[in-house]
Amino acid sequence: MIPVKSPSEIERMRRACAAAAEILGAVAALAEPGRTTAELNEAAGELIRQHGGKSPFLGYRGYPGHVCVSVNDEVVHGVPTSRKIQYGDIVSLDVGIILDGYVGDNARTVAVGVLKPKTAQLLQVTEQALYAGIAQARRGRRVGDISHAIQATVEAHGFSPVREFVGHGVGRKMHEEPQIPNFGVAGKGPKLKSGMTLAIEPMINAGGYEVEVLNDGWTVVTADGAPSAHFEHTVLVTEGEAEILTRRRTG
Ligand code: MF3
Ligand code: CO
Repeated sequence: MIPVKSPSEIERMRRACAAAAEILGAVAALAEPGRTTAELNEAAGELIRQHGGKSPFLGYRGYPGHVCVSVNDEVVHGVPTSRKIQYGDIVSLDVGIILDGYVGDNARTVAVGVLKPKTAQLLQVTEQALYAGIAQARRGRRVGDISHAIQATVEAHGFSPVREFVGHGVGRKMHEEPQIPNFGVAGKGPKLKSGMTLAIEPMINAGGYEVEVLNDGWTVVTADGAPSAHFEHTVLVTEGEAEILTRRRTG
């Protein structure tokens, strides 16, 4: 069963997601040459604490960080380390918070300085794919409509959706039904209802879709060493356009 949230649950989702978005923005601003991925993780942990929340990632199946920090060919679930960020890197930051019993989840890939043109395009197209997916997240559409929109957007540019990791429902738990693959067939899959809250999160490789997991047991990398990008929003399904709960506010 895919949970449908009540108005009071939706209010709590809004607050958790607003906090997740604010923290992601603050941590993204710290992604500069010379900073380590562990430093970004520490900063995120402190901000999560200041918001009165907890990280839903920390301790999840033994995950050791407050957030995930994935650099260049790292796809997702990058474990924070003493690795220093360098000029020209891309850094994928995945930030969640559990606040008042509800989870907000969001991610984005930031550019550190000027990127190679193909890498810059990867970031732009992955974010575009996220919004193409969100445009399908409406009452009456199906999960496959979201998946297909993401896949079509990125494949038109020669990029590859990762197969092994997916988006998901989110609410009281970080991972709820349904799974939301970043590839699929329009018109297939569970039907969306108003009040569902979904984490839509294209993970897109510049090269092939194959991935591997490093010896730390978590960090996912591309098999061919090409860069990978990740953008994620938590959204609320409505009759009209989805409400992007993790949208950044001004200021
Ligand atoms: N945003 C990711 C997800 O939706 C974060 C999970 S990291 C983990 O799955 F460590 F908690 F698994
Ligand atoms: Co997620």
